[in-house]
Amino acid sequence: MPDPFYITTPIYYVNARPHLGHAYTTITADVACRFHAMKAAETFFLTGTDEHGDKIERAARKENMSPRAYADKISSIFKSLWPELNIRYNRFIRTTDPDHQALVRQILQKIYDAGDIYFSEYEGKYCFGCERFYTDRELVDGKCPDHETAPEMIRETNYFFKMGRYQDWLIDHIRSNPDFIRPERYRNEVLSFLKEPLDDLCISRPKTRLEWGITLPFDEKYVTYVWFDALLNYVSALGYPDGELFLRFWPHVQHIVAKDILKPHGIYWPIMLKAAGIPVYTHLNVHGYWNIEESKMSKSLGNVVEPLALKGVYGLDAFRYFLMREMVFGLDSSFSETALVQRINADLANDLGNLFSRVIAMTHKYFGGVVPESLKSAEESLSGMKFGDLASAASQTIDQYEAAMENFAFHKGLIFTWEFISQMNKYIDVAAPWELAKKKSCRPELESVIYQLLEGLRIVSGLIYPVMPETARKMQAHLGLPADGPFYRLETLRAWKTLRPGGSLPKSTRLFPRIEPAAAGITAPGNEPAPTAPDGATPDGAAPAPIKPAIDIETFAKIDLRVATILKAEAIPKASKLLKLEVDLGDRRTIVSGIAGSYAPDDLIGKQVIIVANLKPAKLMGVISQGMLLAAVEGKTVTVATLDKAVKPGTMLT
Ligand code: MSP
Repeated sequence: MPDPFYITTPIYYVNARPHLGHAYTTITADVACRFHAMKAAETFFLTGTDEHGDKIERAARKENMSPRAYADKISSIFKSLWPELNIRYNRFIRTTDPDHQALVRQILQKIYDAGDIYFSEYEGKYCFGCERFYTDRELVDGKCPDHETAPEMIRETNYFFKMGRYQDWLIDHIRSNPDFIRPERYRNEVLSFLKEPLDDLCISRPKTRLEWGITLPFDEKYVTYVWFDALLNYVSALGYPDGELFLRFWPHVQHIVAKDILKPHGIYWPIMLKAAGIPVYTHLNVHGYWNIEESKMSKSLGNVVEPLALKGVYGLDAFRYFLMREMVFGLDSSFSETALVQRINADLANDLGNLFSRVIAMTHKYFGGVVPESLKSAEESLSGMKFGDLASAASQTIDQYEAAMENFAFHKGLIFTWEFISQMNKYIDVAAPWELAKKKSCRPELESVIYQLLEGLRIVSGLIYPVMPETARKMQAHLGLPADGPFYRLETLRAWKTLRPGGSLPKSTRLFPRIEPAAAGITAPGNEPAPTAPDGATPDGAAPAPIKPAIDIETFAKIDLRVATILKAEAIPKASKLLKLEVDLGDRRTIVSGIAGSYAPDDLIGKQVIIVANLKPAKLMGVISQGMLLAAVEGKTVTVATLDKAVKPGTMLT
């Protein structure tokens, strides 16, 4: 039996909505988990949200909500997003879960009793606006970069964790376990941090300053701060110390994080585990950052990419494929829709999609859709053919793929798979089944060629399963195989000639449509605001625009008009005409509308408006608009269309 596999993502802060970066990490964990299912390993996948601390308290206050209600709201957005991206976690942990809070207190007490936590006075530069201490290096001209005010020196007593005690042990551990932190660049980075003596870690905040946290078990006046709470989620989720899940999975734990939280995971966490007497993790897998068109993704730049908008336009499997294929695990990557469209067209529609429809179409053309048999004698007569040995190419591909995926080199796993696809395409060109079909005497060779190609497709459908599970199932079904069983097991893929001759195949289907570059545009740089008012806008005092040419009712029926309630409205920086609206039309979405000249954001909250719900998303001033609001435009005055009386959000207009 293979070792069980336990994978974790960081638990995400609830002060922001999920974006491309969170989606990448969580999809990566899903891919790793599905890959281990290919090895028939038992798997456990943990993700969740990090909900305590002043960042969250402040974000809640800004929204006029209690921290708890605010955390509930954002946490549930993360929790329900992941299944939409076909991510199958086993537990979604929240740091507000009672079992987690109890465990944090238990471990704090254990470390305190062992003498590794002490109480001491701390003096530092404190910004009251940010409610946190700043180091000199973080200040700009001696001032807080956010508030542009000089911080005040304050003294505060707090609890500290003695990290220095474990520094030599950690250096030794990293040196003697070369892939403890991987890829190597991050291992080296941690070793270089460790060249300097480690400061002790401040692990508390007085309740007078921060209430939203877990109370220290040995001092009621303090809460624990950030990392001591968050990192312990990885053990509390499994029921440490004697839960069945903990005993089974903890010895095999692997974490995934991005480089931003390397230090807490590469230094604080192993030291905390050591101090608490818990065995340390087996691997910390660190990936780089997604930048958008070369710049950082940030709310203030307005270039935050929403995973669901991309799924909606390009399809989920294509989106997952792009993320896994484009980013070299460990290095930064730049996201652009142009690159996404290129990959979909070249790798998915062309290489894989064409191969698949070609082979299925030939099976129908030459054999009426029935899987032919590959006789030994025909295989022997084909054996000298260039690119002809698909069986050993498949077996070599599976070995290379397995090694790459095991090491989190997902892009390499996909490259090996696509090399095999390209070998199959060459095999068709060289074997030229259309020539074989001309001669009756070549019938056995034709049967063998088509059979081998169908087998090759079966292997490909298994290898793409972790990244594109739905496409894998679709391919299986079109090969006449059960798509609900564990067809992707490496053992099954290695068994060449699994496909049974005589089975009949459904008609060919297209796996991926080609995408016209012009149709893309969610994050296209320099996208000017599209007109948000209908074409028939009436200039002041002028006669109404002429009526447009007639359309039939079917054309009209293609437009999906819905009633939506406006939940939030805010101005978009540097766009004087635009408002960003959050609306409820059964689902929640963001709409950008050119009505800022006629409406103040607050006047719109609660209004019921009419939305074109199936308009392709477009990016306006950095914000993705998922629909258009209907309004009458007279010169500079815009009047939004509303309803006579309230109806349920999402109701269709006909
Ligand atoms: N709450 C802490 C983690 C505690 S874990 C015990 C935290 N939360 S976070 O919401 O800021 O999430 C950070 C993580 O989100 C990164 O480590 C990475 O997994 C993901 N990403 C956020 N932005 C990203 C990119 N631009 N690119 C890739 N991943 C990114 O830190």
